[in-house]
Amino acid sequence: MKIIRVKDYEELSKHAANYIIEKVRKKPNMVLGLATGGTSEGTYQNMINDYKENHTSYKEITTFNLDEYIGLDGINKNSYRFFMDTHLFNHLDIDQTKTFVPRGNAKDPMAECNTYELLIKEHGGIELQLLGIGGNGHIGFNEPGSSFQSRTHLVELTDSTRRANARFFEKLEDVPTLAITMGIATIMESKEILLLASGEAKREAIKRLLEGKVSEDFPASILNKHSNVTIIADEAALSGLS
Ligand code: GLP
Repeated sequence: MKIIRVKDYEELSKHAANYIIEKVRKKPNMVLGLATGGTSEGTYQNMINDYKENHTSYKEITTFNLDEYIGLDGINKNSYRFFMDTHLFNHLDIDQTKTFVPRGNAKDPMAECNTYELLIKEHGGIELQLLGIGGNGHIGFNEPGSSFQSRTHLVELTDSTRRANARFFEKLEDVPTLAITMGIATIMESKEILLLASGEAKREAIKRLLEGKVSEDFPASILNKHSNVTIIADEAALSGLS
């Protein structure tokens, strides 16, 4: 794993955006895996700024998001589809029909999981997957204990994840209890992974990830087995390391 140490969230966001932009410029029809959450917001803002200034085009890009809450449709302000539309897609020249987020309001969520896997395959697989990390080591919504063999599936969110994400909702009770997420095996098939971590809240998770012990109790630890992972982390997130 390659680690890029940056000063703070602002630097992290610029660095991550530049990393993605460079790949997109090199391969304008690439398949990008995207993430939601507070960490990626700044990255997306920098991509938008670059689009306005330098006109990097996303016309031929296909995107697959990691996860979505069950029960929320795309116009619900707390859905990850809404997050992606408002924080990124609506501000680029991307073809909206090539932006995929699992449908949280699908009539048959299990079938939706299979369809999502097929779609990723049909598009030739993900070339660069952007990841955040949960305080408990979750990636996507793969909570501790998730099988490393898992494909896109339904998950019950842990209390800690629901509490961590409650800041985006009016109240804790509004945070859904179920989600669809790409599985660990799905994520691991991505050719390259870019993981972002910012702030003290991620310190323990980054420390554990870099310890190198691979265990299903700590989902992100599987990344130690991937051959092309870059971590961009700020000083606060890295402050647990000697
Ligand atoms: C959320 C999302 C993940 C995200 C992670 C970190 O629950 N499902 O995809 O990467 O947790 O979120 P944040 O960046 O807000 O800390």
